[in-house]
Amino acid sequence: MNYVLYNDQIVTRDEVVISQEDRGYQLGDGVYEVVKVYDGKFFTAKEHIDRLYASADKIDLVIPYTKDVLHKLLHDLVEKNELGTGHVYFQVTRGVAPRNHIYPEPSVEAVLTANVTENPRPMANFENGVRVIVQEDIRWLRCDIKSISLLGAAMLKQKAHQAGCYEAILHRDGVVTECSSSNVLAIKDGVLYTHPATNLILNGITRQVILACADEIGLPVKEEAFRVEDIATMDELIVSSTTSEVTPIVEVDGVAVNGGTVGPWTRKLQQAFNAKVEAL
Ligand code: PDD
Repeated sequence: MNYVLYNDQIVTRDEVVISQEDRGYQLGDGVYEVVKVYDGKFFTAKEHIDRLYASADKIDLVIPYTKDVLHKLLHDLVEKNELGTGHVYFQVTRGVAPRNHIYPEPSVEAVLTANVTENPRPMANFENGVRVIVQEDIRWLRCDIKSISLLGAAMLKQKAHQAGCYEAILHRDGVVTECSSSNVLAIKDGVLYTHPATNLILNGITRQVILACADEIGLPVKEEAFRVEDIATMDELIVSSTTSEVTPIVEVDGVAVNGGTVGPWTRKLQQAFNAKVEAL
């Protein structure tokens, strides 16, 4: 996986020179995406590229390539690395300028980088489920922007890791938002609940695919927030993201969900999701 994207060129890792004054490096001023690759094929690449441009738009960052050009560059990068199953990470920063909170002139070009990682699907997690903790959502109020400034998220994920858990379910004043690097969905009495796509969550592409899967399998969806105290009453809980796909939660803060086993709706959602992957 030695080939990386550096602006519009595919080069080897040692050919990349990131400036000390890159605004991504100094200010976390940039946006990113992660796209899953199954057996060399992209999953929902268009949706991720659209979201990258939407995130960039929200911070007035101009990406100096068309969406089609970026798509082709990422495709070529995956091919050049002969990636089978894994993911491609790509980010755009506001470019290189003397450190100043104020944005530089538009003549300063954004810096694009991308790299690929080979990693198998976490089948054991899909099968057995994962454990999570609950934490206060300490992040900023524009979680709809997929910003590279991830310190809050990293602090929360580290807490989960130290507790021997996979993720942290986050809440603001008791209202469950999402997880540190994924969305959270809950099923109760045959209805799927998840926080609406507001500024308080990232509207996950996987979340959107799961909502489509729910429709297909006849599981009604309510994009309504639930509260921390509701968690214990939920029949099934799911963590979703590009790399986590449909991961069942079997324990929250040491308390079993659904008796510690994966529930039937989650299994059906996994099957519907798998069908989309197999159709690639
Ligand atoms: N994380 N919410 C947050 C805060 C995220 O960071 C992510 C993705 C998601 C799920 O989005 P999607 O389904 O589009 O991957 C929700 C990526 C995978 C990451 O940072 O590695």
